[in-house]
Amino acid sequence: MYKLVIQGGIPLSGNIKTSGSKNSTLPIFFSSILADSPLKLANTPQLSDVSTTLRLLMDMGSNFVLEEDGSIFIDSSNLTNLRADYSLVKTMRASILTLGPMLAKYKKAKISLPGGCAIGTRPVNLHLDALEKMGAKIEVRNGYIYATAKELIGTQINFDLVSVTATENTLMAATLAKGFTTINNAAQEPEVTDLIYCLRKMGAKITGENTSTLIIEGVDRLSGTEYSICPDRIEAGTYLVAAAITGGSITVNNIEPDSMRSVIGKLIETGADIQTNKNSIKLDMKSRRPQAVNIRTSAYPNFPTDMQAQFMALNSIAEGNSTITETIFENRFMHVPELSRMGANLKLEGNTVVCKGVTSLTGANLMATDLRASASLVLAGLAAKGLTTIERVYHLDRGYEMIEEKFKMLGADIKRVQH
Ligand code: UD1
Repeated sequence: MYKLVIQGGIPLSGNIKTSGSKNSTLPIFFSSILADSPLKLANTPQLSDVSTTLRLLMDMGSNFVLEEDGSIFIDSSNLTNLRADYSLVKTMRASILTLGPMLAKYKKAKISLPGGCAIGTRPVNLHLDALEKMGAKIEVRNGYIYATAKELIGTQINFDLVSVTATENTLMAATLAKGFTTINNAAQEPEVTDLIYCLRKMGAKITGENTSTLIIEGVDRLSGTEYSICPDRIEAGTYLVAAAITGGSITVNNIEPDSMRSVIGKLIETGADIQTNKNSIKLDMKSRRPQAVNIRTSAYPNFPTDMQAQFMALNSIAEGNSTITETIFENRFMHVPELSRMGANLKLEGNTVVCKGVTSLTGANLMATDLRASASLVLAGLAAKGLTTIERVYHLDRGYEMIEEKFKMLGADIKRVQH
């Protein structure tokens, strides 16, 4: 087991490069199931969720090769095992994204139900309802989803809730379905758009990207292609908040600022100077204390739930009082008790946290609980007085490539030690 040890209080400075997006990589890897020939994917991040995805695909009969230029060549054209086992699905809920592609290509799938997770119950009813509406027969027993279909037939899907992975699953299934599928109330996250761009290069007929209505005309077959994954806006946002919370000045490269408008808007409200270029964002908060900002999470293009915990760390040491309201996941406040142990003044009222900014946090021994909660603890540790240790670092490795190396490049005193 590893833990992170952080000596806080150093303003971050310098440049880093954003990695490829985790939430784009996972569905795009799973989309390889739809193709009759291999995909070559560039800008893929080295993360444990990505290794889990590759293991799951290999278990089903895919082959992959890591190319010299860092890209990954995946051949899932001939699956031999149409099953996603609990042992892999339980570690990564995005494994549910095997369902749509397997059903569309092979008309059959057996996938473990992902179950609940630390941030909430996270049901998959929207995925199942949409596929049933397209003609699939779905049975849930012994913790598994058994799905079969004579053929999938295009239809009108109206989602009651905006769901990123339900949109992606339905979209992938529809690419090989018969006729037209319309998805209403579709998620508009940039990662959904990235998947659409890749599917289109594979031969899919999709219109409506970046809107809440997607129209897909099914085709007979999809082929492999070359595609470069979009940058990770959540990773970029995490480093920008790290600079703001430590009173630093950094430039984050290889990022599309347009995909981060809500987060950039909030950072400007904190008093940070922000300059954006085509592929970079510079944030300067030197020698200033951030102003507290109110946050309400909601589907894209509104403020992302995946940045909520990081802003809570920032608000903890900001000037003024603030509220943070979580509307997407019912239990996404595991960082609250840990931040409180560092001296933050936080009060949980329903799905809102009321925060009174304190002048400083103090280092403490902390426990990481989920991916983004863990990121918020790292940011708090970087800003705190004294030493912070964070256990269960594997949560961070699911979504942040080379996290301590990148923070070290920005001047932080952070190391990973075995314990
Ligand atoms: C994706 C992201 C995750 C992000 C989340 C919200 C990936 C791999 N993960 O997760 O990082 O935090 O979007 O932006 O892309 N819901 C249902 N029934 C369903 C599906 C969802 O009730 O069948 C509910 C969920 O419980 C939640 C809301 O819909 O309250 C949105 O969840 P969803 O967008 O599906 O999250 P994920 O796709 O799992």
